[in-house]
Amino acid sequence: MTIIHRRFARAAAGLAAVLALAGCGKQEAAAPAAASAAPPAARVLVVGTDAAYTPFESQNEKGEIVGFDIDIVNAVAKKAGIEVKFVNTPWEGIFNTLDQGDRDFLVSAITITPERRQTMDFSQPYFDARQLIAIKSDASVTRFEDLKTLKVGVQNGTTGDEVVGKLLGKSSANIKRFESTPLALKELEAGGVQAVVADNGVVAHYLANNAGAGFKTVSDAGFATEQYGLAVKKGNAELLAKLDKGLAEIKADGSYDRIYAAHFGAASK
Ligand code: ARG
Repeated sequence: MTIIHRRFARAAAGLAAVLALAGCGKQEAAAPAAASAAPPAARVLVVGTDAAYTPFESQNEKGEIVGFDIDIVNAVAKKAGIEVKFVNTPWEGIFNTLDQGDRDFLVSAITITPERRQTMDFSQPYFDARQLIAIKSDASVTRFEDLKTLKVGVQNGTTGDEVVGKLLGKSSANIKRFESTPLALKELEAGGVQAVVADNGVVAHYLANNAGAGFKTVSDAGFATEQYGLAVKKGNAELLAKLDKGLAEIKADGSYDRIYAAHFGAASK
């Protein structure tokens, strides 16, 4: 091979490489162009919920998360034009998942409280609740004060825990804190605690479905009205606005009342 031939061969190889690259480049460029022509796929928002709280959120036999809260959020999502999926999330640490970005928002019968407002933002309220006392049918408790000398079960970190802490003293050994409300109620049945204080809807539902447990309830006018809200990461005003818009729409068009009636048997006030 002469020098000229060699140079030509090198040049030809170089040209081939350039053409190949250009070809590749064209193909690569084609893909994103086609994708950007279609509307960007919206991200499915991850909703955290402690699904051991019938009738608000629980897991059915198929492992699906169901309940009043779930129906409300699905209806809100439809109005707000967002896609959601529910992920079972233990109550303990549920609020941290917002800051960590593991959950986009939470629905979990969460009471809006001034303390919680300092670390997260809440939607407009969507449900009213109160604390309710569960005791054995033969117990002589008639008001909240009567729990002062008893062993009381609560779900750790709930508003029930808070009110009982005020009555007995936060660090009282008589407060037994459980991971879930059903566990506290089981312990009442077993005799390990003498009372349980938790949200009225959940206590009432448990009694209605566990007649054999031998419980009765005591309400106390001293318990404040609580309101449930959807929780988002502090400062996520964009998502909050969508959720509030959806909530307002389902309240206005009757879907809220239909969902309420399906779970609680009568239209909401
Ligand atoms: N409403 C109470 C609170 O916010 C109890 C909520 C517990 N919810 C649940 N899914 N475990 O403290």
